[in-house]
Amino acid sequence: MAKEPEGKSSATEAPTVTEDGERQWYIRKHLLVGWGALLLFVTLGVVLESLHGFKVAWYHNVGMETRRLTWRLAHAHGTFLAVVNLAFAMTLYVLGESAQGAWRRIASGCLLGATIALPAGFFLGGVVIYGGDPGLGIFLSPLGAVLLVIAVSATIYRMLR
Ligand code: HEM
Repeated sequence: MAKEPEGKSSATEAPTVTEDGERQWYIRKHLLVGWGALLLFVTLGVVLESLHGFKVAWYHNVGMETRRLTWRLAHAHGTFLAVVNLAFAMTLYVLGESAQGAWRRIASGCLLGATIALPAGFFLGGVVIYGGDPGLGIFLSPLGAVLLVIAVSATIYRMLR
């Protein structure tokens, strides 16, 4: 008979994952998101550098300051959030068994949401600009900011307990 996967119950019981397996899953998820986001947003930096280098009109010219600002913010916040994901994974690793609880689910979900919404809002806000104003996509950024505040608060809450 095939062996049960590690951390799973037998077929007659509801499937359960061991706490250790679940923590490993969170750590791997945030390591992957962190390194993946770093690759993405450092690459965006290289693209911005090229747009400067080739003096591309729709990025470089006078009147395009809003696009330059919002894409610069997307690049800077994206790289920063990538590193925050790596720090979160490291926090879970250091806390070990005591890393469990509802706070972890909340912090992890909100951090992932923030990693998408904050830089995506800046980037989309710069795709279509209205003179000095960014496009509607910019409204994703405050949502990302709120999610980030929740994620950081939940993590601090765990550290204080
Ligand atoms: C961990 C890596 C990185 C971090 C944390 C980072 C962070 C930042 C920050 C904070 C700014 C805004 C600076 C300001 O407005 O004064 C910026 C701008 C910029 N970065 Fe990066 N950066 C990283 C990697 C890179 C790489 C690898 C490149 C490409 C070679 C790059 C290209 C740029 C460019 C071109 C700007 C200016 C964009 C513009 O104003 O049009 N960055 N970066």
